[in-house]
Amino acid sequence: MEIRLAKLSDSKKLADYKNSLLLTCSMISRSEPTSMEAVKKSLKSDRRLILICEHNTAIAGASTIKKRDHKGIISITISPNFQGKGLGKKLLSASMKAARKKFCTKVFISNIYSENTSSIKFFEKNGFLLAGKIPKGFYKNGKYHDKLIYVKVV
Ligand SMILES: CC(C)(COP(=O)(O)OP(=O)(O)OC[C@H]1O[C@@H](n2cnc3c(N)ncnc32)[C@H](O)[C@@H]1OP(=O)(O)O)[C@@H](O)C(=O)NCCC(=O)NCCS
Repeated sequence: MEIRLAKLSDSKKLADYKNSLLLTCSMISRSEPTSMEAVKKSLKSDRRLILICEHNTAIAGASTIKKRDHKGIISITISPNFQGKGLGKKLLSASMKAARKKFCTKVFISNIYSENTSSIKFFEKNGFLLAGKIPKGFYKNGKYHDKLIYVKVV
């Protein structure tokens, strides 16, 4: 298993990975497919940092940190087959380290869908604290869900 920065040449497999999660992972907040062009745009952005976990050339997990002023907004996924093996923890740590180096980020934020209990436990285990709640902050599959804002200052 290798954790590395995603490259432009990973665009197709990253888009395929993200879209496969729409079918296998009901807890992600996104509900629309991601195009390869959108992934390319993200990979070219100097305000985003995208890391992937690779297992025999297949993507087992991915993280994005979006730079917003001095803050980093994190999203992270691990493919269902690889969850619960410590990979999320390693990827989160590598992403935060890379964002500290590239953007000097010290404040990390994760916006979590309130019904996503595994993600809540994951971020709490990794030292994130609940800073607030935006009622009906996410709209997905015809329903509003509360958005929880978790923060870690390093
Ligand atoms: C949340 C997610 C990234 C965690 O990745 P993972 O590889 O399964 O997590 P890890 O195995 O690294 O677990 C790290 C810690 O979180 C805890 N944890 C993870 N999932 C948990 C769960 N469902 N229930 C309780 N604790 C959990 C682990 O016990 C572990 O604690 P430890 O360090 O004390 O051993 C992954 O489950 C996932 O992709 N979920 C769906 C997508 C999603 O919701 N992403 C977040 C939106 S930004």
